[in-house]
Formats: sequence, C-alpha cells, structure tokens
Amino acid sequence: MQHAALTIDPAFRIAEVDPRLYGSFVEHMGRCVYTGIYEPGHATADGDGFRGDVAELVRELNPPILRYPGGNFVSGYTWEDGIGPRENRPARLDLAWRSVETNQVGVDEFVKWARQVGSEPMMAVNLGTRGIDAAVNLVEYTNLPGGTYWSDLRRANGTSEPHGIKLWCLGNELDGPWQIGHKTAAEYARLAAETARAMRRVDPSIELVACGSSHQRMPTFGTWEATVLSETYDLVDYVSLHSYYEQRGDDRGSFLASGTNMDRFIESVIATCDHVRGVGQHKKRVNLAFDEWNVWYQKRFVGSDNLDVATHPRLIEDEYSVVDAVVVGSLLISLLRHADRVKIACLAQLVNVIAPIRSEPDGPVWRQTTFHPYALTSRHGRGVVLRVEPIGPTYETSWMGEVPVVDATAVHDEETGVVTLFAVNRDQHEPVALDIDIRSLPSLALGAHVALFDEDPDATNTVDQPDRVTPTRLADVKRADGTITAVLPALSWNMIQLRTAP
Ligand code: AHR
Repeated sequence: MQHAALTIDPAFRIAEVDPRLYGSFVEHMGRCVYTGIYEPGHATADGDGFRGDVAELVRELNPPILRYPGGNFVSGYTWEDGIGPRENRPARLDLAWRSVETNQVGVDEFVKWARQVGSEPMMAVNLGTRGIDAAVNLVEYTNLPGGTYWSDLRRANGTSEPHGIKLWCLGNELDGPWQIGHKTAAEYARLAAETARAMRRVDPSIELVACGSSHQRMPTFGTWEATVLSETYDLVDYVSLHSYYEQRGDDRGSFLASGTNMDRFIESVIATCDHVRGVGQHKKRVNLAFDEWNVWYQKRFVGSDNLDVATHPRLIEDEYSVVDAVVVGSLLISLLRHADRVKIACLAQLVNVIAPIRSEPDGPVWRQTTFHPYALTSRHGRGVVLRVEPIGPTYETSWMGEVPVVDATAVHDEETGVVTLFAVNRDQHEPVALDIDIRSLPSLALGAHVALFDEDPDATNTVDQPDRVTPTRLADVKRADGTITAVLPALSWNMIQLRTAP
C-alpha cells in the first residue's frame, strides 16, 4: 500500500477560521428561488410561501451567510420591484438569464427567510445598469431605523426594525463581457469607489467587497485587481474571487487537482492585494471573499445568449458524482489552508442551480453528493487551522504539473481539544495509509473516521435514489508510538477526528 505522513502540531497555527468561509449563494436564477427555497403551493410551505423541507436541509447545511440576489442577475436588477404588496410587483424581463422575474421574493422576504434558517444576508448592489443612487437607497431602506423616505417605506411595508445588513458586494463580475453593464477596470474602479463612499455615509458600519476577476483565465486577471484596488483600497474590506471547476474530457487526474489550482489562484490575488498595499503604503490588509466557487459543468450549458425566455426555467441543474464531491472537499481544504486571508467564501449556489440541495416542484428535496463534504467540513472545521505538510506520493497532471496524491488540512478546536483532519486521496485506484504524527498532542485518540467514496466514482444521488452516495464510517485506524494511521480509500474525501482520550 502507498504511504503518506503528516505532523499535527498546535503551535503551527495559520489562523482562526472565519465561520463565513462556509457561506452559500442564492441567485434569482433558474429554480434557486422559485420552486427552490420558495414555492407557496408546496405541501411544506410556510405562511410566507417558503418550503419547509428545503429550509430543513439548509439548516442542516448551516451556511452562516447567503449572498443575494446575484450573480449576473443583480447587474440588471431593480430592487424596488421586489418590495411592497406582492400583487403590485411587476414581472420583468431579466436579461442575464433571459427569464421572467416575477418579483414575488424581494429583499424583505429574503432577509426574513435567511435569518429563519440561521444565515446572514450578503447583499449585492447593481453596478451594471444602475449605480450610486440605487445602492445608497437600498442601504437606507435596509439599515436605517426610520425617519427618512426609504426607511419609512420599509416600515410601511411591514418591517419595523432595520434589517441591519452588514456585508455588501459592489456589483458582480463587471470584468466579464457577458455582464449587463460590463466595464473596464478603470470604469469599475471609479464607480465602486464612489458607491462605497456613499454607502458608508448611510451606514459606516458596513463591510464592502470589491469585484475581482470573474475567473483566473480572464485576459485582465491581475491587472483588473490591481487597478480596482488602487482606486478603492481604503474604501473596501475584501476583493472577490470566483472559480468553477469541471472535468475536461477524460482527464480526471487534472480535475482532481482543482484544489491545487485554487491554491495558486488565491496566492496570486493575495500577492496583488499586498502589492497595492505596499505601493500605496496602506496600513490595513484587504482580505479575500471567494464568493463563488463550485464544480460546474459549463460545457453542458447552452449559454445565456441561447436561452428562450421562460419563467424560472431549469438552468444548470448539474447532478454531482462521487468525484465531484471529492473535488468539492478538496476545494474546502484549499480555502481552509488560506484561512489567514480568505475570510468569506460562498458555495454557488444553494438550491437546484449547481447546488448541494435539489428540489422538485410539488415534490421532494434531496442532498447531492457534494452536500456531504460541505456540511461536515462546515460543522467540524471550526477553530484554528493548523499548518500540515503531507509527505507522500505525487502524480503528474497535464493541467497542474506534479501534484500530491494526498492533500490535507487540520483544524484545532482549542476549547474542546478536538483536532479534525480533512484529507483527500486523489489516487483513483489505490488506497493510501496516512500516518498522523501526534507526538505534540500525545493524549489524542481516534474519535471517528468518515469517508466519502464508492466503487462507482460516477455514482450520483437522484430523486429516485436520494441516498445512493453517503459518507461511510470506517474503523481502520491504528495507533502506535505517537502515530495514528488511517487508510484513505482510493478516490476519497475523508474526515478524521482526533479527541483527547478519556
Ligand atoms: O453562479 C452562476 C453564475 O456564475 C453567476 O450568476 C455569475 O456571477 C457567475 O458567472
């Protein structure tokens, strides 16, 4: 059997995990909102029309923040259409997804629902077709107690207390030519700076995210971030990163190395942020908001230009396999490894649209394969991330060059003493025995080893077989001379919990 080894030492701290690393994203796109979280006629719907069965799985997933309402959608959105009596709200053509937006869910309903499922909203403003005026009015509507036009309107619409939304995105992917209101870096930088300044005048306590590149293959990647941050550095708190991964052809080895690509992407953006910091002699650090990430089979999508206009159509409802779940698990390892700079991340999206949760109109709800590594990492990956450096076999990929077979990170909960190790075995055929050196925490013993793997790596969960793929508890761990050894099955995501022996 192949062997890998790593050492756990509580002295090698990277940073405390910001719980917002486990955020997700609700866009008015396809069936994420309509027949996803919201379906008034559904048997489980609450008095506001939100599905109880979907809400239950969202609570289980427990995302602390939910980015809303887009995505590309926000760049053509008129937020005022989604407030006030529902019967008066207009049906509008959404140009991003060529869909009819009925506006039956708007900011008031969304914020109320998000809090009911235990999340905080992360609100995006439209810097595509709109600008400063619409953005400051929205902050006034949501965050001021009353006594002004927009805050009084919120009260009249039935929400007496301010929503108090703390986290705001200054637009979405404005570097992309597909974006409604696409801009050059200089155009976006000016607009983002002035909008940030004005929004902070309404509520100085808010945190702001400037748009970084839509993805790292954009021709302007790097220079876009540098231009935007040069103009906005002292006005924003985070710069955004977006990245979607998919298997190309039959090159599974490269796809499994997606986490290595994410590592490099994050490190490039950190370098740009710190370059601008140095040039401008700024004191503070700008941190990273990886506010869209996931596996997304874009090659299966017809493209937004080719869509027929429809009301909440089925868009990009990717069905995820075991391999996809292992990749999602490894992307979470990459995010955790950079917990000193990545403070916010959002799995895109929450329901139906490239999502861990699927629902059928008038029908059931189920967990995709990707739900499991995400939910378990979110639940147990809290505390201080420790630097671990696995030593072991490597393999060659056409995309990322030589990558380690085993990728891992560890999180130390200093209150309970529990150390949780997250590890993937990217070898598609062979298990790997992982030796975990715990000499600096000698009282640790195995708590549990849970793994996601399957003899069919293409297996998925479906409406008919909702639990075809679930995590398995393994009992293969041995302990000897300050080392705990666990066997990571071929092509697997693993969570190994070590607790102080009683
Ligand atoms: O999540 C789907 C889309 O991907 C979002 O609307 C956009 O921001 C990104 O390109």
